[in-house]
Amino acid sequence: MNIRQATVEDLLEIQNTNLLDLPENYQMKYYLYHALTWPQLSYIAEDGNGKIVGYVLAKMEEEPTDVPHGHITSLSVMRTYRRLGLAQKLMTQSTKQMVEAFDAHYVSLHVRKTNRAAIGLYRDTLQFEVHDIEKKYYADGEDAYAMRLALKEDK
Ligand code: ACO
Repeated sequence: MNIRQATVEDLLEIQNTNLLDLPENYQMKYYLYHALTWPQLSYIAEDGNGKIVGYVLAKMEEEPTDVPHGHITSLSVMRTYRRLGLAQKLMTQSTKQMVEAFDAHYVSLHVRKTNRAAIGLYRDTLQFEVHDIEKKYYADGEDAYAMRLALKEDK
């Protein structure tokens, strides 16, 4: 299994993986926006034949009132490749680049309150904390945990 930065050529396959694994789907122009604006932040996991089996799509938040911070837009690993540590590696690569390339102070994300696997990964493995609960964040009415992980010490 290989982890590498995602390229524009990967985006259709990433979109297909996203459609299979998650109800939150995006138009191709949103994937392109990520890949063209912050090419350092999105990664894929591929098998020995170059087939994409997981991805992390990430960006920087551009709010003038806040410190620079990254955001995980979407993360998924195909069912038969789970519990191999791929999501953890994808997340670590992306957040490392958020700091190195963009001086990110923290990284944020949203996750469904019932998504036990993802919450296990974020909270228990990666040490994210719940920053807020956003009621009815998702289109079907489910609440989201807004989670954050500090990436550098804030003075
Ligand atoms: N139950 C509990 N804890 C889990 C689970 C699970 N099913 N899966 C992972 N974890 C935790 C464990 O602590 C695990 O360490 P361990 O295997 O040593 O116990 C740790 O996370 C690392 O797991 P990885 O192997 O790196 O995770 P994986 O590659 O299996 O991917 C993911 C996890 C991305 C959540 C996967 O289950 C998936 O694709 N699910 C469907 C899509 C999804 O929910 N994506 C996240 C949505 S939120 C967002 O995109 C911002």
